[in-house]
Amino acid sequence: NNLDPHVLVIFGASGDLAQRKLVPAVFDLFRGGYLPKNFALLGASRTDFTDEAFRDKVVFNNEHFDQKDATDEQVKEFSEMLFYQDLASYDSEKDIKALAARLKKLDKELKVGQNYIFYLSTPPKLYSTIPAALAKAGLNETKEGWARLIVEKPFGYDEESAVKLNRDIQTHFEENSIYRIDHYLGKETVQNLLVTRFANGFFEPLWNRNYVQSVQITASETVGVGSRGGYYDESGAMRDMVQNHLLQVLAHVAMEPPIRADAHSIRNEKLKLFQSLRPITRKDVKNQVIRGQYTAGVTEKGKEIAYRDAPGVPDDSKTETYVGMKFFIDNWRWAGVPFFVRTGKCLPLKLTEVVITFKNPPQAIFSEYDDYAMSCDNQLIIRIQPDEGMALEFGMKVPGEGFRVKNVDMDFFYRDLTKNDVPAAYTRLLLDCMKGEPTLYARGDSVEAAWAFIDPILEAWKNDEVPIYSYPAGSWGPLQADALWIGEGAGWRNPTATLTDKKH
Ligand code: BG6
Repeated sequence: NNLDPHVLVIFGASGDLAQRKLVPAVFDLFRGGYLPKNFALLGASRTDFTDEAFRDKVVFNNEHFDQKDATDEQVKEFSEMLFYQDLASYDSEKDIKALAARLKKLDKELKVGQNYIFYLSTPPKLYSTIPAALAKAGLNETKEGWARLIVEKPFGYDEESAVKLNRDIQTHFEENSIYRIDHYLGKETVQNLLVTRFANGFFEPLWNRNYVQSVQITASETVGVGSRGGYYDESGAMRDMVQNHLLQVLAHVAMEPPIRADAHSIRNEKLKLFQSLRPITRKDVKNQVIRGQYTAGVTEKGKEIAYRDAPGVPDDSKTETYVGMKFFIDNWRWAGVPFFVRTGKCLPLKLTEVVITFKNPPQAIFSEYDDYAMSCDNQLIIRIQPDEGMALEFGMKVPGEGFRVKNVDMDFFYRDLTKNDVPAAYTRLLLDCMKGEPTLYARGDSVEAAWAFIDPILEAWKNDEVPIYSYPAGSWGPLQADALWIGEGAGWRNPTATLTDKKH
């Protein structure tokens, strides 16, 4: 491997994310031989752990830590790269000094050349505090090496707070040292959207208003809010899924071809795309955005209590657990093409997919044999997860008399490309940051542009200008979301658990 030696400092290391995703991702990099020889992970948070107690928590007694094919010796070797520094408050003089001293010591022992990654996995209210504290200790710009900052979502609460957060952080770190993580960008299939579009000659000519009738993106989840009520009720589906993950997926589906596949070119195109979203004004919200909240019902996981009865959720909560929306992109490629996005908790299936519906042929010459126009939506279904792959649906002649047409599909499954496990999103993204490769991280200006699009909707909701509809857990969301499609053809696709219903 050719990564620079470095220390990865995780703030909030005693929390859930470090246990569930971050330490397992670093272990994957270790198993894959990616980590440099001179490497340490330094956990930092307020819990009082020794190095050993921290190793126990995140490695040996961590139900999310999967040893996979590694030997016990390898796990032990990995655990010895983990250290811990307890902090009283994250920003007291004493804390900063203690952290700086610890880093200095690790630096000396491991010769990491003052290369540091600081990962903010703390409550968001500390996102401005910690970079300022790091700057006080001179850890934001090290003399010999580099310092990078990874910031977890939520990146702001609305446009104003996102702008403020950007300014606060950018006071201490250069934009190209700030890595705003959106784990959807770490998903292979989200990256593959770019390859599908730009490594092939035949998709792009069709990928525009002349041939595309509509585009829809679904990200459905079967789980309810579980024990995350406290966080979720402040957030809701729009902030939790749409503003970040789904707009990022949209950008990959709809952006213009970048001139090169580098961070600057790709992120410029994404920004342009966000800037081309036609604003949904507060008065349009009622026609274009449907919010819903689940009531008690039965999902594939069994009985689910109503959202308002979940722990941490107020009885009169108006937080949405479902969003269905329709919007337009005002640029040459997409003028007039409706885009639809829906996401929700307690829906019938866990999946994320993009469906491009192509226009019908200009004349339905076989309609006397069949209801051709209705039965033959030409759709390209791109499965982001699970059962990753693509299927192209089109009409073929039914053998026999006349010209009866039947829908068939050609499919491709991502699993056929590799026998190895596809790297988990966090693994890929951490590796990129270690390399200093920001392409798959969100840039500050794009984050602000995405919020600018979402803000009026949140305002209209906050002021109760539109109703919140209920839907029983286990259904596809409020029926009102179907009405978004009136006059636009296809309708929400009714997805199956697997990409196509063929057996393999
Ligand atoms: C997270 C949200 O960012 O993404 C969760 O906070 C959501 O509420 C999750 O469940 C979905 O991610 P994935 O990778 O399971 O689709």
